[in-house]
Amino acid sequence: MRLADIDLSNPDLFAAGPPHEAFRVLRREAPLFWNGNGGSDGFWALTRYRDIWNVSLDPKTFSNARRGTILRDWNEEEAASNATIMLNMDPPRHTKYRRLVNLGFSPKITNRLEHRMREITNRIIDKIAARGECDFVTDVAAELPLQVIVEMMGVPTEDRHQIFDWSNTMIGFDDPEYGNGSNEAGKAAAAQIYMYAHELATEHRRCPRDDMVSVLLEAEVEGEKLSEIDFNSFFLLLLVAGNETTRNTISGGMLALIEHPEERARLLRDPSLFPTAVDEMVRWVSPVMYFVRTAMHDTEILGQPVRENQRVTLWYGSANRDEEHFADPDRFDVGRHPNDHLGFGIGPHFCLGSNLARLEIRIMFEELLRRLPDIELAAPPTRLRSNFIGGVKHMPVRFTPERR
Ligand code: HEM
Repeated sequence: MRLADIDLSNPDLFAAGPPHEAFRVLRREAPLFWNGNGGSDGFWALTRYRDIWNVSLDPKTFSNARRGTILRDWNEEEAASNATIMLNMDPPRHTKYRRLVNLGFSPKITNRLEHRMREITNRIIDKIAARGECDFVTDVAAELPLQVIVEMMGVPTEDRHQIFDWSNTMIGFDDPEYGNGSNEAGKAAAAQIYMYAHELATEHRRCPRDDMVSVLLEAEVEGEKLSEIDFNSFFLLLLVAGNETTRNTISGGMLALIEHPEERARLLRDPSLFPTAVDEMVRWVSPVMYFVRTAMHDTEILGQPVRENQRVTLWYGSANRDEEHFADPDRFDVGRHPNDHLGFGIGPHFCLGSNLARLEIRIMFEELLRRLPDIELAAPPTRLRSNFIGGVKHMPVRFTPERR
């Protein structure tokens, strides 16, 4: 592949999976690459581990707030509503907000989850175990993160699949199956999620419960509480951030185990490897392909000028295969240690749900390998058409049916 042919704004480049060949060329030949085709005014792309690390840890120069974190141009109204999402905030506002919502992820909330997660996981597997086949994405991988997040947020059971559809539409806007390929569908879904959050908050204010929503509504830092709009935005962010990422790591992790039978056998022999296997899956899949930072003033990266207001994209999936950082980066190794991948980002915006996600993925694979150890592909997986989320939409699998 030639440098001149690379356009990271084109979802078709990602149709068959993360473009590792293009990333390799970029890391080698143009570690700071000007992608001229990306929206109104192009963007810089960083693909090496160290450079992504450096930019992420310098929020004074590289802002999340100025132009948001994805490659979209917003009108004024969208910019105002996106500014209330913590991912699009800079310090000191972000620091304060993060301290508030951290209370919703306290050990009190998350500690009691492991047992419940295992129950949910086994219920999901119960539904398919005797069939000997299923769509691994919709029947298995998508269900756990969805059920965990709606359970944490106290969403009533009957509303849960509606929430799932909205979240799919919002994030998969480049894919016809989810968003009709339209930005409008994504916006409409976001508006519905906001409205839903508003009703949920009203209900919890009227009748507080022992769940994350009540904790968030009550949380107070330095005399400040989450405003109504802050709460709605956080609800929306959690849905999207918690669902798509974890789902795609579970699907991609399963695919990796199918494609690397020796690694699956290793895991079956030695369950103490589950924790390292989980991080290796996140590194391998890197479901969040990129996030954006914007230069706050004229500056330099790798000795090249970067102008104020220019966007810099951080390609996590490339950093996670950087041969200068990882030994044998293209090998899927369930025992990899150390594994300081950037799949959860780095710096002040480091993924708030990383421990929750790790727990979900570990429990899912512990139960899957215990009950259905021989899952294999029944047909090739269908991928999500997106340069933002690395995802599998459908993955038909078969396995020896479980005898009850
Ligand atoms: C394997 C699953 C997941 C992956 C790969 C992932 C990845 C990421 C990444 C790359 C970031 C941005 C980090 C940065 O800019 O430095 C992030 C932020 C975030 N993630 Fe996750 N995530 C996952 C699961 C979750 C879950 C389960 C939740 C919550 C239920 C969650 C909530 C968040 C939130 C709230 C932020 C914004 C943090 C901030 O702006 O301070 N994520 N995640």
